[in-house]
Amino acid sequence: MTDLLLDMKRTHHCCELTADDIDREVVLMGWVQHRRDHGGVIFVDLRDREGITQVVFNPGNSEEVHEKAQQIRSEYVLGVRGKVIGRPDDMINPKMKTGTVEVMVDELRIFSTAKTPAFQIEERIEASESIRLQYRYLDLRRPKLKKNIQARHQATMAIRNYLDANGFIDIETPFLTRSTPEGARDYLVPSRVNQGEFYALPQSPQLFKQLLMISGFDRYYQIVRCFRDEDLRADRQPEFTQIDMELSFVNEDQVMDVAEGMIRAIFKQVLDMDLGDVFPRMTYEEAISRFGLDRPDLRFGMELCDISDIVKDTGFKVFASVVKNGGLVKAINAKGCATFSRKQIDELTDYAAVYRAKGLAWIKIKEDAAWQSPIAKFFTEDEKDALRRALDMEPGDIIFFVADQPGITNEALGQLRNELGRRLELIDEDSYQFIWVTHFPLVEYDETEKRYQALHHPFTAPHEDDIDRLDSDPAAVKSRAYDLVLNGIEIGGGSIRIHSTDLQKKVLGTLGIGAEEANEKFGFLLDALSSGTPPHGGIAFGLDRLIMLLCKEDSIRNVIAFPKTQKATCLLTKAPSAAASTQLQELAVKVVKLEE
Ligand code: AMO
Ligand code: AMP
Repeated sequence: MTDLLLDMKRTHHCCELTADDIDREVVLMGWVQHRRDHGGVIFVDLRDREGITQVVFNPGNSEEVHEKAQQIRSEYVLGVRGKVIGRPDDMINPKMKTGTVEVMVDELRIFSTAKTPAFQIEERIEASESIRLQYRYLDLRRPKLKKNIQARHQATMAIRNYLDANGFIDIETPFLTRSTPEGARDYLVPSRVNQGEFYALPQSPQLFKQLLMISGFDRYYQIVRCFRDEDLRADRQPEFTQIDMELSFVNEDQVMDVAEGMIRAIFKQVLDMDLGDVFPRMTYEEAISRFGLDRPDLRFGMELCDISDIVKDTGFKVFASVVKNGGLVKAINAKGCATFSRKQIDELTDYAAVYRAKGLAWIKIKEDAAWQSPIAKFFTEDEKDALRRALDMEPGDIIFFVADQPGITNEALGQLRNELGRRLELIDEDSYQFIWVTHFPLVEYDETEKRYQALHHPFTAPHEDDIDRLDSDPAAVKSRAYDLVLNGIEIGGGSIRIHSTDLQKKVLGTLGIGAEEANEKFGFLLDALSSGTPPHGGIAFGLDRLIMLLCKEDSIRNVIAFPKTQKATCLLTKAPSAAASTQLQELAVKVVKLEE
């Protein structure tokens, strides 16, 4: 077969034609979105990367071309040559960018036929997500996904330009490496050459970027894939992309300044939006106290109120005993929601239970200001007055309470607040609310492992003033870490690092990593730290999450060309899959089915 493209060269993309092109001869290439046969004249919506143009096959123009066009079906791939003509007034389609014109086709080439697609390539898609993931190449034909992927490209271009202009050097770091602890499980790769040994895919380039500072590169960046075997959610993928950077001779403010500039450049490039002075800061403690979470969504109010003091001696024993045992009782006021039904309250109770709340007590304030509540009878008049004042109770409100250990109370009520914000449509979907969260604790106690864990990672520097407390009260030590949160989602996190070997050893010790283990796992880092290390710090942004927010998507799967499911599988290629026994033999790996 001869190459149908030999003497046909595309002149335009399908979105580009306007009334100015009338009478011009053009060549378009694309996929058949729709074919309509209108009494002899065939209309085809031709779709390419950039948009859609209507092309017309009229027997009055060419019998032969019209005859050939009879074969055309959805998703065939065509090349057409023809003349741009204006549409009659009553045929103008104001919803289409090219709606004032069409192309009268003189020459048609059918490059490919197509079987009936698994689903229609429409903006409003009915097919389930698993079918769409299985036929991802079809789903990616949809304009919305195309736009997302293009926005991602715009963003990475803006990032590269901005960082280059600010003296950053793009340096690649290995994928086949040792474990970098970022709090998730590693993906392991067995080594054939060194049987019984494994590489770990990096959870982040953290240690390499610190080594690059020690090597004197001063400002590094990389748009890099990271791998984490963790429970997946709408904003988590097993492999995801970071905008990773590290800078020497800087403090927190300088890293945050550079990061803000980059975010501004991305918003300008992708949304043509000038972000003003939109990067306020809040300490971790304040975030938890007011919003229950370290990633507060500032697009609506309904802040958490600590009522522990009011109820510490109350007749409702659940509350009183929680306070006695060092727990917290907190509440939120869902204004105007006293109309919630029993069923709605039960649903919210189940929602809070996901975050380990043991119950969700409530008080409805009726129109006559009387309380309706399973727990009202336990409160004295004084307690009721104090609650009214603390929670700004008004007729029509409903108050929700959680009593538990501080971690559970804050998280359950914070998540409930977000859920109510969504359900009650309190959130302005057009607004972008940034907040830097600072002064995180350096470590937190892990009850199951019975030891302290780094809140960020083990290389984050403690605050100077707190260093003497590393031995006496590790949980009280604040770190020099910072997270950037956008609309309740953590889009980036980083810290100033430890640059002294002794302090690094000490912090590893606090984390229960003794000298021997430290040497075994991080000996190369400790060695490097003692070879002349500049003060340094950095940050990494989740590119997928950022693009998700820019594109107003609710899952990062919609901004990744080939994402994985919640179960970490690829429905398109059917990965992961069993390995051939010869391959396993070469790797000296034996698969053993574990008993349940
Ligand atoms: P951290 O672990 O906070 O920091 O990761 C940085 C950012 O990466 C994004 N992110 C994810 N995105 C999608 N899927 C995931 N599974 C996932 N996990 C994390 C988040 C997060 O804010 N090395 C440090 C950075 C540093 O200290 O400089 C690090 O990786 O948006
Ligand atoms: P009970 O006395 O267990 O029937 O609980 C009375 C109300 O208190 C119910 O609405 C429970 O959901 C709620 N409740 C029970 N335990 C807690 C708790 N730990 N925190 C908040 N509310 C609770």
